[in-house]
Amino acid sequence: MGCWTARVQYRHAPAANHAALDAVLASAPGRPTLPVRLTVELAGRARVHLPADAPLTVWDPCCGAGATLTVLGLLVPGLARLVGTDADPGPLDLARRNLALLDPGGLTARAADLEALAARHDKPSYAEAATAVRTLVPASAPAWSVTPADARDTAAVRSALAGAGPYGTGPDLVLADLPHGHRTTWAAAADDEDPGVEFLRAVATALRPDAVVVAVGRGRTVPLPGGARPLERVRAGHRAAVLVRAGALQEG
Ligand SMILES: C[S@@+](CC[C@H](N)C(=O)[O-])C[C@H]1O[C@@H](n2cnc3c(N)ncnc32)[C@H](O)[C@@H]1O
Repeated sequence: MGCWTARVQYRHAPAANHAALDAVLASAPGRPTLPVRLTVELAGRARVHLPADAPLTVWDPCCGAGATLTVLGLLVPGLARLVGTDADPGPLDLARRNLALLDPGGLTARAADLEALAARHDKPSYAEAATAVRTLVPASAPAWSVTPADARDTAAVRSALAGAGPYGTGPDLVLADLPHGHRTTWAAAADDEDPGVEFLRAVATALRPDAVVVAVGRGRTVPLPGGARPLERVRAGHRAAVLVRAGALQEG
């Protein structure tokens, strides 16, 4: 168990060309998304701490346009269910549109849309995007849901997570790209606590103690509640990530 911060070595996500994903994923203006390779790497690292081969339920408690969840569904095998929640309902239609790519026929329908746009506007870039989309085969075929919920609103979160996980045991893994920057500020936090710490504490109350939480922020480190020991910390460019058991957050 390492608590130091290491520059990320990509052990679970080989370098790959993700142009097809860029062509197919819709993003909300001003809401930067987590890099694809880092998303897959962090999921792979989290999986090491979870029962091998069990189908996973993943919750993104600040899902925005759903890019993180959709990337996981497209590239990571063994995902049974994806749950997205966000305090801001604004980008959730985009999240539904992105996650619908994982439904049977979702990618084919998007490729056909792009081909129709190419024909209507005589734009080769749409046709190239359609060709790229037709190369994609989702690694998982998860059920998914998207619901507005402030992560600190216990009742709203419990309702969004109802029935999640095998036998309703809740999410196994949380992957959260924490708010940062101009457009993705925190919904108001208690004055006396770091908003990220308050967020993580609240998220943990909805989880089994053995669930793994991965939180990614800008800057040197992601603060944890006092005394909570991480499983691992990593840095990638200007981002810092932490992997921590929900139980450690509940005790911290
Ligand atoms: C960096 S964005 C996440 C981007 C997302 N992963 C994607 O793929 O599009 C951070 C999100 O956190 C949301 N947010 C801010 N405070 C929140 C809170 N208290 N509970 C839930 N979501 C919150 C913002 O609305 C924003 O959509």
